[in-house]
Amino acid sequence: MAVSAIFAAVMSSVSDSAFTSYEPTVAPVAATHIGSPRRFFIETYGCQMNFNDSEIIASVLSAEGFQLTTDCQQADVVLLNTCSIRENAEQRVRARLSEFQSLKRHNPGVLVGILGCMAERLKAKLLEEEHIVDLVVGPDAYRSLPQLIARAESGQKAVNVLLSREETYADISPVRLASNGVTAFISIMRGCNNMCSFCVVPFTRGRERSRPPASILSEARQLFDSGYREVTLLGQNVDSYRWEDPATHAVVTFAQLLDQVASVHSELRIRFSTSHPKDITDDVLSVMADHPNICRNIHLPVQSGSSAVLQRMFRTYDADWYRRKVDRIREYLPDCAISTDIIVGFCGETEDDHRQTLEMMDYVRYHQAFMFRYSERPGTYAARHFPDDVPDAVKSRRLQEVIQLQNAHQLQRNREQIGKIHHVLVEGPSRRSPQQLAGRNSQNQMIVFDARQALKGRYVQVKAVSCTSATLIGTLCPEPTKHLND
Ligand code: SAH
Ligand code: SF4
Ligand code: F3S
Repeated sequence: MAVSAIFAAVMSSVSDSAFTSYEPTVAPVAATHIGSPRRFFIETYGCQMNFNDSEIIASVLSAEGFQLTTDCQQADVVLLNTCSIRENAEQRVRARLSEFQSLKRHNPGVLVGILGCMAERLKAKLLEEEHIVDLVVGPDAYRSLPQLIARAESGQKAVNVLLSREETYADISPVRLASNGVTAFISIMRGCNNMCSFCVVPFTRGRERSRPPASILSEARQLFDSGYREVTLLGQNVDSYRWEDPATHAVVTFAQLLDQVASVHSELRIRFSTSHPKDITDDVLSVMADHPNICRNIHLPVQSGSSAVLQRMFRTYDADWYRRKVDRIREYLPDCAISTDIIVGFCGETEDDHRQTLEMMDYVRYHQAFMFRYSERPGTYAARHFPDDVPDAVKSRRLQEVIQLQNAHQLQRNREQIGKIHHVLVEGPSRRSPQQLAGRNSQNQMIVFDARQALKGRYVQVKAVSCTSATLIGTLCPEPTKHLND
């Protein structure tokens, strides 16, 4: 198919202030297609925000009469919601596309769509590189998916990668996919205005915009009423959430939003992610201290422990500033866990820089860490200005050292919990055994314990008796707790 046949759907931009109702989108049962309803399959890569986007996509398509299938062989439309954060994330998607070639051979009518960050980064180029692809749809264009699918069904390739300054999908009630019925994500903002030199997200997700608080609160209430007991507020940088009422110009900050969501119900736990160290305020810490149902866990990505590296990363803080932020969190919330992201082998990283990252880890003793080798991303400031000069073998060795230290810290942290009683929200059976239940404490530490009763979605007290570096193993205390603070 010639790329000139590409259809670029131009959506009229929707202003947030135009929304008057936040009622859930009703998924009609009737199909809009002649014969049986068309079925879509969706596979998601990348961050929690992308998973939440897939739930929005499922809602948009359900409203048009499409039916979700978990079997790609049964699907009329196969969608991959993709991630570009590191090269290997994109390679996984390309490998998956080659697997779908046989699917398309057996059923030439099936449509294959690339959605999300890879669609936004590569745009129509994807159609040239991957002939199997029929649809390319960026993160702000999901409302146009039904029209794009219709276009592709008529034999033309369809692309919409327009980024929006307003789109927050505020009025769309996500269809919860692969849900445990207990924990859910709520996106509170989209995009990112930071320009970390290594990062592709500002290019794939566009400018920062915040979702109206009324729609966030309404979604939190609906989730609580349907039995959910934990929500995670999502954004690339939640602390820069800022919503201005178009009529009164009153501003809602992240601290105020957090306060409002935490007030929905004392038995609804709140988490949030991600906090950029430069933006998290004392106001946020103080709201956390006021609400025991806001979990004692802050994801505060450090990226590197070396001020020289942080400067090249354009993170806008240095190592001492970050340490002071950690101290501040502990002043307000002595029992607060801190988790992080770390990149090893960024451009120009020396052995001394690496040692400073290990020292930072020793200082904070993170409860959890996501650790990555630097992967150069085309178009970013770092790709254009700094050579990717740390050899692969050195990156791998440094990553191993960081992982080893993190495992040691997690084991220490978990051992400190042995003998203590934890308030645990039960998420369901443990992965290992149906006789065991699993849940998390406020600090996001996973706890498994034997239980005969069906306690999913309940708060229980569990005494930790042993542990690995990843998990606490406990015994259930006799009476389930009714309130978080009991
Ligand atoms: N908005 C979040 C992070 C989003 S991306 C924040 O600012 O903290 C998640 C993590 O991926 C980042 O924190 C970083 O550690 C990692 N990451 C981003 N770009 C990367 C790259 N080019 N190579 C390796 N890791 C990267
Ligand atoms: Fe990327 Fe930095 Fe934005 Fe996070 S804050 S998404 S690392 S640019
Ligand atoms: Fe990946 Fe896009 Fe998320 S690049 S990490 S899916 S914002």
